[in-house]
Amino acid sequence: MSFTYKDNNLGVSQSENFFSLSSFSKNHDEPFYIYDLDGIVERFNVFKSGFSSLENNLRVHYAMKANSNKIVLSALKKEGARVDVVSLGEIKLALSCGFEPADIVFSGVGKSVKEITEALKLGIYQINIESVAELERIGSIASQLGVVAPVAVRFNPDVNPETHPYITTGFRENKFGLNFSEIPRIDDVKKKFNDNIRLQGLSIHIGSQIRNNTSFVDALEKTLKHLYLLEKNKCWNIQSLDIGGGVGIHYDNPDAYSDHELMQDYSSKMVEALSGVNSAIDIICEPGRVIVGRFGCLMTKVEYIKQNEFKNFAIVNSGMHHLMRPCLYNAQHTILPVVKVDGPCKQVLYDVVGPICESSDVVGHDRLLPELQQGDWLGVMDAGAYGFVMASHYNQHELPQEIVVQNGQVIFS
Ligand code: LLP
Repeated sequence: MSFTYKDNNLGVSQSENFFSLSSFSKNHDEPFYIYDLDGIVERFNVFKSGFSSLENNLRVHYAMKANSNKIVLSALKKEGARVDVVSLGEIKLALSCGFEPADIVFSGVGKSVKEITEALKLGIYQINIESVAELERIGSIASQLGVVAPVAVRFNPDVNPETHPYITTGFRENKFGLNFSEIPRIDDVKKKFNDNIRLQGLSIHIGSQIRNNTSFVDALEKTLKHLYLLEKNKCWNIQSLDIGGGVGIHYDNPDAYSDHELMQDYSSKMVEALSGVNSAIDIICEPGRVIVGRFGCLMTKVEYIKQNEFKNFAIVNSGMHHLMRPCLYNAQHTILPVVKVDGPCKQVLYDVVGPICESSDVVGHDRLLPELQQGDWLGVMDAGAYGFVMASHYNQHELPQEIVVQNGQVIFS
């Protein structure tokens, strides 16, 4: 599975089938995202298998913010995934793709009255709260509705994983989660709304694109100390432990399978750290990027080649409005020619830039590519996570299309 070259043509390789991107893009003018659905499904199962020795019930809640294409969501549902959502919009989308309310964990720091009301009416599996004020709000809505709100408390374990500061969430200065020292305040709110709140779990999520798995262990161990204490506390009725998402991928290694070692290391460290947890407790995980990141490519066409004394620019028809990651996090996505030249060819150093009226609109700085011409297609790789979902109409451009390939065939466009 995944994107590779065959006879110098970039394409999607799926078992015996090869879907050629150059043949497909011939009939297109506009940029588009293309997803390898077989790769996504395989990756989901590899991720899950890492936890097979866990005696607890494992619930994999795919973080649908990473890629919420309906075909992708429906395929993951068929594989037994559940979802982690962060808005009412995501709840509605998940339901429309076949997920049940009982499949939904609702995360996020800013849930509105409307979102909480709808979630409680639907009877979702769990709301992960991020502040005492949110618990108050949930308690009061649940008592008006006459329901019991299933709540897990997201803690901020104060670890600082080595990732981009914009996607670090478990450090004490981040807006996410509660401090362990706030447990007495949580207990007070629980007492106030006793019949309408069930404190059923603990949750953590320390950030995204983390490749140093020891930070996950540090965060989990800090949380487990409190879990063991809270299990004895009469206020809490612990049934779940949510270990979050955040597992990274190797954007710097073109081989998608190179992620497997990192994933295996992650799951074995987590399983080991979880070995003391009562097997009646559900273990929830919320992977996003690691499931879909590798299996999406943003296809873009060269509009112009432009040179000045300092730079060669390849001006393409996609950019920060379709893939925010390079400009927002200085993310380095590999850029590949869709057709490779046979034999030796002139290589040129390009800044691959988009059409948006900002100098931040760079898809890739200083990329050594075979000499390009107007009309050539390029693939911006590893764009399956946080790509299309973060796209906008900035400068009033169209959104890119999304195309899904399965068994070597386009099944959605
Ligand atoms: N759970 C929660 C509560 C989250 O906030 C996130 C991601 C995840 C799970 C999934 O994390 P993952 O496994 O995908 O790392 N736009 C950024 C990433 C933002 C991540 C936000 N939260 C990027 O393009 O790198």
